[in-house]
Amino acid sequence: MKLKTVFAATLALSVVAGAVGAAEAPQVVRKDMMEGMGKAMGGLVNIVKGKTEYNADVVKASLTTMVDTMKTFPDQFPAGSETGHKTEASPKIWQNMDDFKAKAAKLGTDASALLAALPADKAAVGAAVKTLGADCGACHETYRLKD
Ligand code: HEC
Repeated sequence: MKLKTVFAATLALSVVAGAVGAAEAPQVVRKDMMEGMGKAMGGLVNIVKGKTEYNADVVKASLTTMVDTMKTFPDQFPAGSETGHKTEASPKIWQNMDDFKAKAAKLGTDASALLAALPADKAAVGAAVKTLGADCGACHETYRLKD
């Protein structure tokens, strides 16, 4: 009876630890965030390419994802997360953290301004994609390792 209880408790603990460990690895969190960014950008690009009709809700959702993500994205690079989980983060991030944060803030600010104005048609979404794409590129160029 007692042994059984201990076993059950241990099992419960290890399940919790496993789940928390997987969810908390910053390399995994930041990759998930960036996948969300890819999807958000994809929503806009589909409109520009004519794959989907202009839809204000999609534009709003994409821009909101970018604004929200950039608020916490730079926090996902604590010391000790430089490698592991197949991260593509460049070591330069930890050498130039202020610049890295500034690049995240730039995208956040641009997305926020676009959200306030809300691109109203396909052409305006095209212009937004140019601005935002340059921000993605500016950071990736220096801070994302290419395979
Ligand atoms: C402030 C810097 C920064 C900005 C701005 C930025 N990224 Fe990233 N991105 C990164 C870094 C760093 C990685 C690699 C993360 C890792 O592997 O740990 C990455 C990885 C990615 C990935 C791969 C995710 C995966 O599953 O491995 C995608 C997709 C992506 N970014 C899309 C975008 C898009 C789209 C934008 C613009 C809307 C954007 N990023 C803006 C820094 C940035």
